Amino acid sequence: MNFPALKNDRILRAARGEEVDRIPVWVMRQAGRYLPEFRELRSRYDFFTICRTPELACEVTLQPIQRYDLDASIIFSDILVIVQALGMIVEMQPSVGPVIPDPLKEPLDLDRLNQSIDVKQELGYVFEAITLTRHRLNGQVPLIGFSGAPWTLMCYMIEGGGSKTMSKAKKWLYKYPEESKRLLQILTDIIVKYLIEQVNAGAQMLQVFESNAEYLNSELFDRFRGPYLSSICSRVKNELKDNSVPMIVFAKGGHYAIKQLSTFDYDIIGLDWTIDPVEARKIVGNNITLQGNLDPCSLYGTPEQIKKMVKNMVSKFTKHRYIANLGHGIYPDVDPEHLRAMIDAVHEC
Ligand code: CP3
Repeated sequence: MNFPALKNDRILRAARGEEVDRIPVWVMRQAGRYLPEFRELRSRYDFFTICRTPELACEVTLQPIQRYDLDASIIFSDILVIVQALGMIVEMQPSVGPVIPDPLKEPLDLDRLNQSIDVKQELGYVFEAITLTRHRLNGQVPLIGFSGAPWTLMCYMIEGGGSKTMSKAKKWLYKYPEESKRLLQILTDIIVKYLIEQVNAGAQMLQVFESNAEYLNSELFDRFRGPYLSSICSRVKNELKDNSVPMIVFAKGGHYAIKQLSTFDYDIIGLDWTIDPVEARKIVGNNITLQGNLDPCSLYGTPEQIKKMVKNMVSKFTKHRYIANLGHGIYPDVDPEHLRAMIDAVHEC
């Protein structure tokens, strides 16, 4: 597709375990409501209209890149576009978040899903946005593609939105284990195709978001998370062969499974802020890159405090095999100048 040459490959070097001149940094949800330019555009368009319009998704993806000295961009979209592609309605309600008005209630409901979708066609708007953005980035920084992980998507499909306990989704695991596996497998097969097509469209790195890891434990991991997360990575890499790109797995609240995750093919493990970096490094060994994990709330501190917290974090991770990030997405009421303080502090380390 003749993309412009890449001028900043720090994050790719860190992913491969190579030396870097300075620590690469990006931030989950870096394109979002804390930015006035995002809020302005968002006041004119519905959330999923932005996702579905490559020109708009591209514009929003580039907003944080134009403002800050970041080392990666992440395509603007949402993990729930896969749920929509399966035929379910997903609405983004102001101050509520995603709502699925007609969630899966019992195993028979699985028959409602469009299981044999043509991913290239149903999610073509994401691939178009990626290709356009890769051109517009003009090689400034790499472009990250992403997907939700099977368990996290299953939660939304059954809960119908966010939940404090995930008790409806977990009920399936205990009451309908075989049907749960069927659903997780349907999602896995789509996610694999989706990630492969993102790379074909121009994504230079991939992140799998397991935002709801915290509701499970190591036994449930072995049955309902691990096998699917593992096969996503190995299948994507096998199918892309020489064109494969570094893959990140981010599991929020998933400290009980870091060891198992490190045995999969992922190049990078993203950590939330509850895990001590020194402990995490001991658990995963030296052949994997770690990403994270500043508490998103630390950005409510003063720029001086942020600088200190970043220094402390970097001293624990060290400069080797490390990508700086928050331990979860940036919150909408953070002062954009405080994110700048974080980014600059990382680069000064
Ligand atoms: O990181 C980026 O800048 C890329 C864009 C991105 C969004 N969502 C945009 C978004 C990414 C990578 C996501 C992933 C996502 N979406 C996750 C995994 C990461 C995480 O936070 O755990 C999850 C769980 C979702 C589902 C989702 N989408 C929720 C729970 C919400 C509501 C919470 C919130 O922050 O509002 C969304 C909405 C959403 N996704 C917004 C944005 C910018 C805000 C919606 C709006 O503008 O009204």
